[in-house]
Amino acid sequence: MSASHSSSLRLLPMTQQSVDLVLGIEESAYAFPWTRGNFVDSLAANHICRILCDERGAVLAYFIAMPGVDEMHLLNITVVPGAQGHGHGRALLRALVKLCEDRAASELWLEVRQSNHRALRIYERFGFVGKGVRKRYYPAAGDTREDAVVMSLGIGGASGVTSHALE
Ligand SMILES: CC(C)(COP(=O)(O)OP(=O)(O)OC[C@H]1O[C@@H](n2cnc3c(N)ncnc32)[C@H](O)[C@@H]1OP(=O)(O)O)[C@@H](O)C(=O)NCCC(=O)NCCS
Repeated sequence: MSASHSSSLRLLPMTQQSVDLVLGIEESAYAFPWTRGNFVDSLAANHICRILCDERGAVLAYFIAMPGVDEMHLLNITVVPGAQGHGHGRALLRALVKLCEDRAASELWLEVRQSNHRALRIYERFGFVGKGVRKRYYPAAGDTREDAVVMSLGIGGASGVTSHALE
């Protein structure tokens, strides 16, 4: 991640006031988006909810993660469709790794659709390892269901993962 990537961007807490903006991005990014209730519930549950904003305050990306006793579960990571492929996703993952380190969480978990090859490749390149499959985890077209690939990243042991972005 270049220094210029992080210098003009800010990682801020997601608030109830940000939910409308975030929901708009969510609905533009997924065929089966989270609902407003999913975001409101995540905030109420004190999950770690962050938005990545540019210098004018526009939301570029966000993530929601659920802390466990000694692990973290990434529930949602999304970049505005027009801003994908510019390193924002990786910057958010690095920020999340830093949060894991701060909380002494030893493992970061996520699920990803089996058909989401782009996200799978990004996670693998970041150091995540496939741990299994959750059958019929996601809703899919025509009232069907799609399997999820379960992946995890060992915190502290992942090669090439640094935690300096967006501190
Ligand atoms: C998956 C997702 C979060 C990844 O975020 P992203 O910002 O698009 O990903 P990045 O830009 O960090 O990395 C993607 C590619 O850009 C490249 N890249 C990284 N930094 C870059 C930079 N500064 N400039 C240009 N390209 C860069 C990476 O090398 C990577 O290349 P690769 O495709 O060869 O692996 C995002 O694409 C997204 O929101 N997708 C739709 C929703 C989704 O699928 N979410 C995940 C559900 S599990």
